[in-house]
Amino acid sequence: MTVGIPKEIKNNESRVGMTPAGVFELTKNNHTVYVQSGAGEGSGFFNQDYQQVGATILDTIGQVYAMSDMIVKVKEPIAEEYGLIQEGQIVFTFFHFASSEALTKAMLKSKAICIAYETVEDEDGTLPLLTPMSEVAGRMAIQQGAKYLEKPVKGKGVLLGGVPGVSPGRVLVLGAGTVGIQAAKMAAGLGAQVTILDVNMKRLRYLNDIMPSHVVTGFSNEFNIRKHIKTNDLIIGGVLLKGAKAPNLITRDMLKDMHPGTVIVDVAVDQGGCVETTKPTTHEDPVYIIDDVVHYCVANMPGAVPYTSTVALTNVTLPYVLKLANLGWRSACKLDSSLEKGLNVVEGEIVYNEIAETFQLEPVLV
Ligand SMILES: NC(=O)c1ccc[n+]([C@@H]2O[C@H](COP(=O)([O-])OP(=O)(O)OC[C@H]3O[C@@H](n4cnc5c(N)ncnc54)[C@H](O)[C@@H]3O)[C@@H](O)[C@H]2O)c1
Repeated sequence: MTVGIPKEIKNNESRVGMTPAGVFELTKNNHTVYVQSGAGEGSGFFNQDYQQVGATILDTIGQVYAMSDMIVKVKEPIAEEYGLIQEGQIVFTFFHFASSEALTKAMLKSKAICIAYETVEDEDGTLPLLTPMSEVAGRMAIQQGAKYLEKPVKGKGVLLGGVPGVSPGRVLVLGAGTVGIQAAKMAAGLGAQVTILDVNMKRLRYLNDIMPSHVVTGFSNEFNIRKHIKTNDLIIGGVLLKGAKAPNLITRDMLKDMHPGTVIVDVAVDQGGCVETTKPTTHEDPVYIIDDVVHYCVANMPGAVPYTSTVALTNVTLPYVLKLANLGWRSACKLDSSLEKGLNVVEGEIVYNEIAETFQLEPVLV
């Protein structure tokens, strides 16, 4: 198969669909790989790194799309890319179809095979291609939170680890899923006192077993949240209700109970946030202050660390890319039910129930 890696052209996107390690695996399996010149630069991978493992560098995005059976990228195609996608071409990337009718219509029109990272689903219901981005965001949440606790950026002026003779900072983590666990681990590693709240007792039991003793678990309810926000310096929002808006666990009136300079990092901002006063921000302008509480609500946190995010993402996408290249999409999806769940739009038809429902269409079986 010929596999194309275009440069991402969405604003501020520095990740790339494949690392040289991935190209190495494909060329080893006798596939041809075309990489657009400069595609990996934002993530620290240069043309010669790809050439050394057998890729051919092409000058333009148009050439990459025109010469490839399968396109592997990161973000959903934007309008400039719609016309480049070929009939019957496999496009393996994040799509988030339900949030864009224009994209859905364009992909239906293209008659391509659109396999979405975000709907590849394991038997236990987990989303293996989304997990690494939550891991990145969870860890980053503490790094960012620690920075905004500093006084010059209007934080409380607390060093999370404390020093001999001074108590460490306190971190409250809402949600003990992927984001929450990674945030708790990082905060604990810095020496902070961590409280992690969830409604899922199984998760809390698990955390209680594996975390050090300065990470304590608690049940998430309004009473406990109101109690903890009074004493914590940094609050991380990492709750998720699958397919729904995140619940407002911290309401506007609660901000006045927090110490001035408390920092909230609401990672769940992409699902509306779990704080009533959350509104999405960008890496250029990541924070705002309401009632003396610093809010960090960047909706694409992994975008700030493209090297780590690219490697983390491609580690998990590569086995599927190899299957698709070795077997073709029909056989690969027949043999791998997780990958089959990634099929969203196939040759001009929507094949994924929730997307069809969003646009009030009947899904078609493949
Ligand atoms: N901002 C970003 O850049 C970024 C990056 C990655 C993920 N995210 C988002 O972070 C959020 C969390 O993702 P995740 O992968 O950790 O999800 P997850 O499903 O692994 O974990 C969510 C946890 O929230 C818990 N929860 C549900 N209701 C709760 C409540 N009322 N109180 C406390 N806990 C509750 C669940 O029991 C679960 O343990 C999602 O919205 C995800 O989209 C954002």
